[in-house]
Amino acid sequence: MNDIDSQHRRLLLKFLLTSPLLGLTMCTPGETRKAAIKTLDDLITQASEAINVFDFEKVARQKLPSAHLGYLSTGVRDDATLRANSEAFSHIKLKMRRLVDTRSVDMTTELFGKKWPTPIFLCPLSSQHAFHPDGELASARAAKAKNHLQMLSTLTTESVEDVSRERGEPVWYQLYALTDWNGTLELIHRAEDAGCSVLVFTVDLAGGIGNRETLERMKRIDDRQCSNCHSGPKYARRPMVSGMKDPELERIVTWDLLDKIRNSTKLKLVVKGIERGEDAALCMEHQVDGIYVSNHGGRAGETGRGTIECLPEIAAVVKKRVPLMIDGGFRRGTDIFKALAFGADAVGIGRPYIWGLSAFGQEGVETVLTLLTNELAMTMQGAGTRTIKEITQDYIA
Ligand SMILES: Cc1cc2nc3c(=O)[nH]c(=O)nc-3n(C[C@H](O)[C@H](O)[C@H](O)COP(=O)(O)O)c2cc1C
Repeated sequence: MNDIDSQHRRLLLKFLLTSPLLGLTMCTPGETRKAAIKTLDDLITQASEAINVFDFEKVARQKLPSAHLGYLSTGVRDDATLRANSEAFSHIKLKMRRLVDTRSVDMTTELFGKKWPTPIFLCPLSSQHAFHPDGELASARAAKAKNHLQMLSTLTTESVEDVSRERGEPVWYQLYALTDWNGTLELIHRAEDAGCSVLVFTVDLAGGIGNRETLERMKRIDDRQCSNCHSGPKYARRPMVSGMKDPELERIVTWDLLDKIRNSTKLKLVVKGIERGEDAALCMEHQVDGIYVSNHGGRAGETGRGTIECLPEIAAVVKKRVPLMIDGGFRRGTDIFKALAFGADAVGIGRPYIWGLSAFGQEGVETVLTLLTNELAMTMQGAGTRTIKEITQDYIA
């Protein structure tokens, strides 16, 4: 190109940059995307449009009936523990290493001898038919498609047999003890017969669930006729317990009950709901196989610490002798990275995948998993860590 040509080109560019025509020119490539989303407040209309997991939350908020949204969103009382879970992450800063060759990062995670492509798993969440007609089956299909560990609630709206079939392998079974020991045993045996290898015993509901104020308020503004689903015997649509006579959850669980469960099954036993180092130490004495730091997503007790704040003292006790899991407020790859740095082996997500499920079913759950996995990979690359093992407290300020 000669000097005159390049001078003309510069002039033309200058004209375009200052011309209203530029608006049209620049808009053209984005036109298709803009057809669906025209303002910053617009909701995504398909899973592939999501930039982060909160895009699904916005859709779920619009799609779900208020009582079901209330059930999903609620903490207890003023929802302070619920907020603490997410807020705690913002006080923890990362310390990045530079000039490390992180072109490929390996997120492989091993739990009880089985390898998973990432440390991210689906928490046990009850009643998923309240969020999507395919309920737990859609979550299972997504977990299968992306090969993530799925835990299934005792209060699932699909059976452990059906969910395991859709998952393509047995899920981990979350156990609530029932007031009737024979009922509890029945649940354990059913999980064993379905091929589950791990029992996740939830122990954090001693404070009860009667103080879920956000739920109570949102129920009041739901004017639908709910008797179709909410009539008849308690837990009528919970196939793991519905065949039992008057099933009732045992909320006050003790170390004796834990021993009883420990002695009645050969399945690996993980205790879910631990918040303190002393209790983690007792779990180890009581021969549990794994410890799961959780406060039930802020639904179990009020003005507690965020789970990420509980993690260091528990990791210091566990010392990598058994798998250490955590959930509560994880919404970003950086959150997951921080838990791994503090010694967690695997990180659970609860509400985010239900936002995905509520918004777009299986595809929504899959996309939530993809987004978080990608964010974790990017965080690892940015921090200069190539494997999960390399993520240590050294990366935390
Ligand atoms: C709607 C809902 C239902 C839940 N059901 C159960 C359950 O049946 N069993 C259980 O152990 N935890 C249950 N949890 C707690 C989750 O397993 C998990 O600890 C929590 O959702 C993680 O926090 P996050 O939602 O902020 O990710 C439930 C949580 C929610 C939001």
